[in-house]
Amino acid sequence: MNTYQRSYTFSFLLVFVVLILFHPALSTHVNTLSSSESLTISSKRVLISPGGVFELGFFKPSGRSRWYLGIRYRKVSKTTYAWVANRDNPLSNSIGTLKISSNNLVLLGQSNNTVWSTNLTSGNYVRSPVEAELLPNGNFVMRYKESSSGFLWQSFDFPTDTLLPEMKLGYDLKTRRNRFLTSWRSSDDPSSGDTMYKLNIRRGLPEFILMHGRLKSQRSGPWNGIGFSGIPEVQGLNYMVHNYTENSEEIAYSFHMTNQSIYSRLTVNASTLNRFTWIPPSWAWSTLWATPTDKCDIVEICGPYAYCYRSPYPTCNCIKGFVPKNQGNWKFGDGSDGCVRSMRLNCSGDGFLRLNNMKLPDTVTATVDRRIDVEKCEERCLSDCNCTSFATADVRAGGVGCIFWTGEIVDIRKYDVGGQDLYVRLNYAADLGSSILM
Ligand SMILES: *[C@@H]1O[C@H](CO)[C@@H](O)[C@H](O)[C@H]1NC(C)=O
Ligand SMILES: *[C@@H]1O[C@H](CO)[C@@H](O)[C@H](O)[C@H]1NC(C)=O
Ligand SMILES: *[C@@H]1O[C@H](CO)[C@@H](O)[C@H](O)[C@H]1NC(C)=O
Ligand SMILES: *[C@@H]1O[C@H](CO)[C@@H](O)[C@H](O)[C@H]1NC(C)=O
Ligand SMILES: *[C@@H]1O[C@H](CO)[C@@H](O)[C@H](O)[C@H]1NC(C)=O
Ligand SMILES: *[C@@H]1O[C@H](CO)[C@@H](O)[C@H](O)[C@H]1NC(C)=O
Ligand SMILES: *[C@@H]1O[C@H](CO)[C@@H](O)[C@H](O)[C@H]1NC(C)=O
Repeated sequence: MNTYQRSYTFSFLLVFVVLILFHPALSTHVNTLSSSESLTISSKRVLISPGGVFELGFFKPSGRSRWYLGIRYRKVSKTTYAWVANRDNPLSNSIGTLKISSNNLVLLGQSNNTVWSTNLTSGNYVRSPVEAELLPNGNFVMRYKESSSGFLWQSFDFPTDTLLPEMKLGYDLKTRRNRFLTSWRSSDDPSSGDTMYKLNIRRGLPEFILMHGRLKSQRSGPWNGIGFSGIPEVQGLNYMVHNYTENSEEIAYSFHMTNQSIYSRLTVNASTLNRFTWIPPSWAWSTLWATPTDKCDIVEICGPYAYCYRSPYPTCNCIKGFVPKNQGNWKFGDGSDGCVRSMRLNCSGDGFLRLNNMKLPDTVTATVDRRIDVEKCEERCLSDCNCTSFATADVRAGGVGCIFWTGEIVDIRKYDVGGQDLYVRLNYAADLGSSILM
């Protein structure tokens, strides 16, 4: 081949490549994997979401020979993964194939061993061809080719450590699946770490809990119509909307962006839950907030009937009408034993002390009635001698709905701004008769 021929061939190839890249019929498929195609590590092919925010492909995060299939941001300078398929079962070398087999997405290793699968039980029932698609919001879905509605499977149902806009965190009552976040083991190891952010639905009122292994680290507090009283989410940002839904189908939190050029994600790492944002033209993720923020966020640092207040540094305080249970420890700054009533309750003659800007107590011992207002809530608490406090369930429009606690109240904190009113039952004659202020 002479120089002329070589450059001719090169030009021809270039035109060919350009045609493939920009051909309208072909470019619509860069986000789609059909049932006859596959994605291999060696081909370096990736699926790109329409709009170009996300891409799906293989990656090797460390020097070790461990390969993963994942979704990452394309336009973000610091490589950031939003989802990993085979986080706990890496490919052991650079031979790996993603394809559709018997209506399942499967990831195969060197000897065609299945490393990961969508595991749909109806997988053998072939109704019509299925295909996989990376959607603009970063959701990797599998669906019937000609059907526009409904997914057979979606990555949004299997979160890794990151909640993306439009993704739901929490319980799906139909599939009985609780979707939660689990940290990476370390910054170059996506395998499941010990820290989780998970909706607790076992008893009382649902709330999200940050867990380190089996240890509760921080509670979100229940949703109050605007936010979670224990999460420092910034309210009223003009580019982000929060949504909490509790109905017969689901108990779930999600958020979405009203300005699509701003990215935001909720990510759990080994120590904290973080809200990261990417606001152009900055070329970095910034941390909008992280929790736990201080000692006061740590579950039960103060014990029953005590609240934590950071002024000037975190300390435990007894609610008015209560005294430290263990004076000795209390003096040395250990408030974990909490406080006890200085005057016993007189069931029929009690009243309530209002504490403002509070993170509501642990809702495991709480009951909710969304139909009644705050006056009815007070009556209801008063009429049950075991009821120790109450609060409004939804702070909007002056407060609707009623949460009441029976037994000890624990894990309470006071803020300078934010939080909500908490009403604590006291013996009226002894504690409230003179002054009802904190
Ligand atoms: C894996 O499967 C492909 C396609 O079915 C086949 O061509 C290949 O020989 C298989 N490889 C091994 C190691 O079995
Ligand atoms: C699929 O099923 C296999 C065998 O039951 C299991 O080991 C694997 O974890 C499942 N994969 C997923 C992604 O759930
Ligand atoms: C909140 O989410 C639910 C379902 O999860 C949806 O029906 C509803 O429209 C959403 N509300 C807003 C304001 O986005
Ligand atoms: C978790 O993220 C926060 C916020 O970016 C950071 O300060 C902290 O060092 C991270 N922790 C770990 C263990 O990576
Ligand atoms: C969206 O955010 C970007 C970056 O802050 C800003 O430049 C742009 O004006 C915003 N667009 C709208 C419609 O608010
Ligand atoms: C409770 O309070 C009422 C009204 O103040 C009083 O009449 C009653 O004796 C008290 N009962 C007890 C057990 O202290
Ligand atoms: C109050 O608590 C006691 C002890 O736990 C229990 O025996 C009693 O039934 C409770 N009363 C009501 C009205 O729930």
